[in-house]
Amino acid sequence: MSCASPPDFDVLVVGGGAAGLYGALSLPKALRVGLLTKDPLERSASGWAQGGIAAVTDPEDSWSLHTQDTLRAGAGLCDPEAVRFLVSQGGDCIQRLVALGVAFDRYGEGLALTLEAAHSRPRILHAADRTGRELVSTLAEQVFQQSHIQVLPEALVIDLWVQDGQCHGVRVWHRGELHTWRCGAVVVATGGGGQLFHPTTNPPASTGDGLAMAWRAGATLRDVEFVQFHPTALAVAGAPALLISEAVRGEGAHLLNHRGERFLYQYHPDGELAPRYVVSRAIFQELRHSGQCQVWLDLRPMESSRVERRFPNILHTCRQWGIDPLREPVPVAPAAHYWMGGIVTDLHARTTIPGLYAIGEVASTGVHGANRLASNSLLECLVFGAQLRGIALTAPPALPTPVELGTILDWPGLAGIRQDLPVLMGQRAGIARDAVGLNVGLHQVQQWRAEMGSFPPQGADFAQIRLWAETRNLLDSAYLVLGSALYRRESRGSHYRLDWPEPVAGFHAHTVIQGERWQLT
Ligand code: SIN
Repeated sequence: MSCASPPDFDVLVVGGGAAGLYGALSLPKALRVGLLTKDPLERSASGWAQGGIAAVTDPEDSWSLHTQDTLRAGAGLCDPEAVRFLVSQGGDCIQRLVALGVAFDRYGEGLALTLEAAHSRPRILHAADRTGRELVSTLAEQVFQQSHIQVLPEALVIDLWVQDGQCHGVRVWHRGELHTWRCGAVVVATGGGGQLFHPTTNPPASTGDGLAMAWRAGATLRDVEFVQFHPTALAVAGAPALLISEAVRGEGAHLLNHRGERFLYQYHPDGELAPRYVVSRAIFQELRHSGQCQVWLDLRPMESSRVERRFPNILHTCRQWGIDPLREPVPVAPAAHYWMGGIVTDLHARTTIPGLYAIGEVASTGVHGANRLASNSLLECLVFGAQLRGIALTAPPALPTPVELGTILDWPGLAGIRQDLPVLMGQRAGIARDAVGLNVGLHQVQQWRAEMGSFPPQGADFAQIRLWAETRNLLDSAYLVLGSALYRRESRGSHYRLDWPEPVAGFHAHTVIQGERWQLT
């Protein structure tokens, strides 16, 4: 094992999705930046985002409307100041993206806008149904052109290096060795933790790494129980839970139950365009009553030519799995999609640990509350990534002593946990929760955490180290989700407790975690 500090970096950015890329591009060019990714670039969840980016670009729209929509969707837990900040910065970020070459769809000279659930106006910019991929590939191209940014793929960050209450770098597995790399500031941009649940719309890399590392390092976390379940993921036996964008409903598709009836108006006056958690809960109720595993998304109310133009990717994917949305409804069910909670940050992306910053899904900036408004996630990546232009650096101390390599549970045992955990979480901490199920989940997760063992022994390869590191992060994240879900004795936004089915009126407290201490503040 080596403790040498190979390249000399001022800032290490961990994660190569929209937040990490845009954040790296926003850092002052005088700084030497390392961008660490465990995969090659472009396998991030942002690359999978279909819908688009919400921003006020239409003269008939306003910051005030976008703010109101975000606050309403957030079910009483958004930080209004953070929301106003997010919304007010959106236009500038979009202008910068256009200047960088992001090819948004256009309507004549102007930017084309679509509608998604809980938005009072069409304000979603898109590039067909591949907005995330268009964004991430453009940003990645830009990053590769910058001589001050070095991209380091297959750099697996194991832990943050925090000494005397300050973050000075990371412990990273790179080229077969464990290193400590020091720097003046670390930016965590690792995305979410969809792999905690089965099913999920997230890619395999979404394993809660940043949140778990920050928690182990002593950072304060907030509202970790709030996991958004997207209402419409493809539900075909053997197929992954591929996202069918909400924009499809925004442009006229209907959701039908097993009797072929539109059922959402029974649950909310906005029907298919009700807030996401309302639609997911309604589907959950329908499935409970029908005993089926799916409802149906009918795109046929839309003109075929429109579906072909706007949603080519969705069309292609469904057809690959034997369904032609132009001729028949698509079977769909909710799937874990987005984590509203995360590492507490201020408006400058600073966490509670000096020297540690967090941006994107891993951060809890206060803009999403208990339920994120559709397409505000890419906007958040950009707006808070841009704040890194004001990053403050500190001089790191001498390198610490090397970590001892340890022993672990056997590899098949680890792989078994990795496979069983998402099923457990889907059952015990999914759309509908109760104390009994959450306690069962917590007990099992605690047992697995105790069995995990310390750092892998000599001779393990990258895939094995990754399995160990991701499983450890998933288990820590599961512990935090289950603990927080037990702690919040009410239903609010995406957190739905069958044993506490209503929100507590006027109760706008956050679940805050610091080490092993949970608090409502
Ligand atoms: C979607 O297109 O439905 C997902 C976009 C988002 O999560 O905001």
